[in-house]
Amino acid sequence: MPEPTAPVRPATTRDLDAIVALIEHARLELTGLGEAKLWVVDGGSGRPAVGLIGLEARGGAGLLGSLTVRADQRRRGLGRALVEHALAHAGAQHLAAVYALTAAAGAVFERCGFEPVGRDALPAALRTCRQVRADANADAQVYVRPLLD
Ligand SMILES: CC(C)(COP(=O)(O)OP(=O)(O)OC[C@H]1O[C@@H](n2cnc3c(N)ncnc32)[C@H](O)[C@@H]1OP(=O)(O)O)[C@@H](O)C(=O)NCCC(=O)NCCS
Repeated sequence: MPEPTAPVRPATTRDLDAIVALIEHARLELTGLGEAKLWVVDGGSGRPAVGLIGLEARGGAGLLGSLTVRADQRRRGLGRALVEHALAHAGAQHLAAVYALTAAAGAVFERCGFEPVGRDALPAALRTCRQVRADANADAQVYVRPLLD
């Protein structure tokens, strides 16, 4: 039987409480949220969203952030669906590449076609993003997924 399509949709102001809960539960930082386009995994039947991802676009490149799936919903493909959704949006916006900084979620990004690169590979425009400047991410691995040849 085919896998059900993950109900990824753009976040709305009604998702705010669920977004804060997801971020706090995953112990992620609330950095840069206001500057990013956000998508959530719909919780169904009016229940709170169970997953989140953000994409910040600057200078023709994108930076993913705030990727999290509620603990009881993990390993079901939702994290990957969120990343693929953001990548499709980035492609439609003609972004040249999408970057991610992560200490713990490298496997998900690699499954989505990202490759680890040195911090020097981050475009100058993205280095001004709060997520990149945050001390908490100083040791995070940088991943890139080129979108244009
Ligand atoms: C990272 C996270 C979003 C992954 O969400 P998820 O819905 O479980 O991910 P998926 O089910 O789509 O997994 C995709 C692939 O990633 C890899 N993967 C995911 N979680 C993994 C884990 N804990 N250990 C090893 N590989 C893992 C697997 O290859 C998996 O594919 P498979 O299940 O077919 O083997 C989730 O674990 C999470 O919210 N973690 C806490 C927050 C966090 O660290 N966010 C990263 C900030 S950049």
